Amino acid sequence: MFVVPTIVSNQDGSHPGLAKTLERHLARPFAPPAGPRRAALYNALAPLINTAQAEGRAVILDSGCGRGESSFWLARQHPQALVLGVDKSEQRLSAAEKQAQPPGLHFLRAELSDLWLLAWQHGWRFSLLTMLYPNPWPKSEHLKRRWHGHPIFPFVLHSCDQLLLRSNWAIYAEEFALACQQASGVSCAAAAYQPETAITAFERKYLRAGQALYQVQWQNPGWRFGDPASPH
Ligand SMILES: C[S@@+](CC[C@H](N)C(=O)[O-])C[C@H]1O[C@@H](n2cnc3c(N)ncnc32)[C@H](O)[C@@H]1O
Repeated sequence: MFVVPTIVSNQDGSHPGLAKTLERHLARPFAPPAGPRRAALYNALAPLINTAQAEGRAVILDSGCGRGESSFWLARQHPQALVLGVDKSEQRLSAAEKQAQPPGLHFLRAELSDLWLLAWQHGWRFSLLTMLYPNPWPKSEHLKRRWHGHPIFPFVLHSCDQLLLRSNWAIYAEEFALACQQASGVSCAAAAYQPETAITAFERKYLRAGQALYQVQWQNPGWRFGDPASPH
C-alpha cells in the first residue's frame, strides 16, 4: 500500500481556543491595508465575475485548487458556471494551465485572503466554494493559520451560498464545522466521507494510502458579515 504519513498533532480534539479566536475575528474584522496586489487581482477578476453575474451564471470558487483537477471536475459538473480555480502556487497552477480549459474555467494565481476581501467589498457571491484538503497546520500553536482560525474566516462565509470542505484530519473538519455553526447559527457537522472517485491529487493520494477522509457541507442561511458600505 502507498504510504502517506498520517497527521501528527499535539491536539487530541478541537482546539480549546477556537471559540474565543473566532469571537474576536467576528468582533474586530480583518482589515489589512489595500495595495497593488489586491488592485491587480480586482482588475483580473472583476470583468469575469461581473459578466457572469450579469448573465445570471453561477460563480464557483475552487480555493487552493493546487494542480486544478477539482476545478476541471467542477467545470464538467457545472458547464454553464464560471469556475475559478485559485491557488498561490505558480508551479501547481502551471500544471493546471497546461491542459485545455473549457470556456467557463479560469485559473488564477492569488492570495485567497485578498480574493475574499474583494468579494466582500464588491458583493461577489460564490454559489459554491470548495476548500479541498487545505494545509492542516496541525500544531496547536498554528490555529490561526487554519482557515477557520484565520481572521479572514467571516469573509469566507460571507462570500458563499454553499461551502464544501474536505480534509484527511478529523480535527480540522470538526473545528471547521464548529466555526461555521458559531458564526452563522446553523447546525453544522463533519462527517466521514468515502468518495468513489478522487477529484483532487491529494484526495487520490490519501485514498491510495487507505486514510479516512472527512467533509463538511455548510449551507449559508443568508448570513452576511457587516456592511461593505460602512467598512469596519
Ligand atoms: C494541500 S494542497 C491541496 C491542493 C488541492 N486542493 C488538492 O486537494 O490536491 C493546498 C493548496 O492550497 C494552496 N494555498 C494554501 N494557502 C493559500 C493561500 N493563502 N492562498 C492561495 N492558495 C493557498 C497551496 O498552494 C496548495 O496548492
